[in-house]
Order: sequence, then structure tokens, then C-alpha cells
Amino acid sequence: MKNLQAASLKYQDNQLWVLDQYLLPHQEVWLPCESVADMESLIKALKIRGAPLIGIGASLLVAHLASQQCSREQLIEAIAQLRQARPTAVNLMHCMDKMSAAVAKDEYIRALQTCAEEIFEQDIALCNSMANFGNELVQEGDQILTHCNTGALATAGVGTALGVIYKAHQANKKIHVWVDETRPLLQGGRLTAYELDHWQVPYTLICDNMAASLMAAGKVDKIFVGADRIAANGDFANKVGTYNLAVLAKHHDIEFYVVAPTTTLDIECENGEAIPIEQREPAEVKGVSGSFGQCQWAPNNAQVYNPAFDVTPAELVTGWVLDTGIYSQLDVHSGVLRML
Ligand code: MRU
Repeated sequence: MKNLQAASLKYQDNQLWVLDQYLLPHQEVWLPCESVADMESLIKALKIRGAPLIGIGASLLVAHLASQQCSREQLIEAIAQLRQARPTAVNLMHCMDKMSAAVAKDEYIRALQTCAEEIFEQDIALCNSMANFGNELVQEGDQILTHCNTGALATAGVGTALGVIYKAHQANKKIHVWVDETRPLLQGGRLTAYELDHWQVPYTLICDNMAASLMAAGKVDKIFVGADRIAANGDFANKVGTYNLAVLAKHHDIEFYVVAPTTTLDIECENGEAIPIEQREPAEVKGVSGSFGQCQWAPNNAQVYNPAFDVTPAELVTGWVLDTGIYSQLDVHSGVLRML
């Protein structure tokens, strides 16, 4: 298979490597990934994360196993197992569907490798396209709020919502970014801040519960977020806390955009209620851990509610920025796809 390089995933000289996102920003450690068990545990621990990237990583691993002479039966089993690694981001399922079709072909080793390479390269193109469309929405001097991490770390390309921000910065629009730290796993405080630092985009980090007062003070012009699954009626799941922002945006009359590739659309899901939401370990809410170690502040017996994602209803969305364009209405089943 050919060598491929993204910000947090690379395939080099027949070896798959994952940048451990759990240790960022203070340690940059690349981990080798050799087996389904490796990839599964990297995905579950969010060492590799972001809707597009987990699908791409799982596909590259299957292609790698194919080149290691795994049997067709073992590869079919690997695809089935990886599909289950996380339940909410539909990109993983779409990628595994493509790999399932490839493994059924006569020349399945070459077919799997080509398929994984195409998935990787297609994501770069999708990111560029979203960034170009989204950039049209950004005005000179905009104050933009974002949630979680949707940048190069979460994709093979420049990112989704953060890709738009990067593009606007490159276009010299003098933007400023408010970064939600994104409890409980702090993807904003650790990863988005790391990326914006790297790109030298002016940003200010806030705790999630500070967004309302910022909006009330007139300091947010637009909100751009990513998505893990967009239902047929335009409802979408994204990192928990996204729905809060959408409600606040409506109240304060602030434009609220979701940026995602068409590979995040799930037309089998009628609406947001049908999107499976991942529930995670109580320890993530009782305290915090990372490259600095681990700490718990809550009592050992504290009951915890820890959904990794929430669902934002379509009625709160100003526009869906997809790789095919910007839509002010999105309802696939009734045929409504209205461009802004
Ligand atoms: O749990 P995570 O860190 O994988 O959640 C990621 C998100 O919610 C992102 O906003 C989403 O995957 C879009 S990333 C391009």
C-alpha cells in the first residue's frame, strides 16, 4: 500500500501509526497499530477520534491486515468488529460498508487497499470543499465560537468546522475564535487550542458554561460545529454541549452552522431520535486525566450521566455546510435540499 500522511494518522513503509490524541498537547507520541484489538482500544480510548478519522483509521488497518496475508474470513471478521468500536459516528459504518464490498471481490487484497487509499484521499478533498464553502459565510473580523475538535486532528485533511476557520484565517479575514474547552474530555481545551496555536489563529479558551454570557455581551457573531451523524431530516449528533450552543444561539439570534462531509449523512436515520448515543465511563465526569496524570474530585459513589454526544434539532440550524454546498434546509426524504 502507498504511504499516506495526515496530522494524526500515517501509513509508512507498511506500518500504521496513530498520534495519541489523549496525550496532546504536551506529548506528541505516535503509537503503532498492528491488530483489530489495537485499533479498537485506540478508538474506545479516544486516542484516535473524530467522526471521519475513526472510519479512515479502521479502513487503513483492515487494508494493512490484508497485506499481512490475513484470510478473507479474518478480514470479514475484522470489519464486523471494528464497525462496533463506537456507535454514534456513522462515518465508521459507511467506511466499513465500503470495505465489506471490497472484501467480497475476487482480488480482495488489492480491492481493500485501493478502497482504504480512496477513503483517505477522498476525505482530504471533502475537507477542502467544506472549507471553501464555509469560508463564504465568514466576514472580516468575525468572532466565531466552536466546540470540541473538528480540525486536521479529526480528519485526513484540514478538518470540518475548524477547516472553515483555518480557511478564513488563511484568507486574512482577521477572525477571532472562542474555543469551548468541551467537558468532559476537553477536546477543545487540549486539541483545538493546540491546532489554533499551531496555525497562529487568534483564539480564547472558555469553559463551556461561559458561552451564554459571551453571547449576551454580543461577542459571538457565528458558531461553527461538526457532526458525527446527520439524520435524514437534518437533526444531527455532535459532541455533548452542541445542543446547548444551538439553543443559546437561537435565543441570541446568532447564526449556527454545522459543517460535515456527506459521509456523515445517514439517510436511514429518519430523525435525531434514531441516532444511537454513546454512553461513557463515570470516571470521565468524576475527574480528569491526560498526559499530566489523573485526578478525581467527585466522591467515589457519585452517580454519573455521561453521554458523549447530544442531538441538535434541525430547526435550530441556520445552515448545513456540506462538501456539496451550503443548505438552509435539509430534509432528504421529502426532497428538500435548499441552498442558502
Ligand atoms: O468523541 P470525539 O472526540 O470523537 O467527538 C468528536 C466530535 O464530536 C466532532 O465534533 C465530530 O466528530 C466532527 S469531527 C470532524
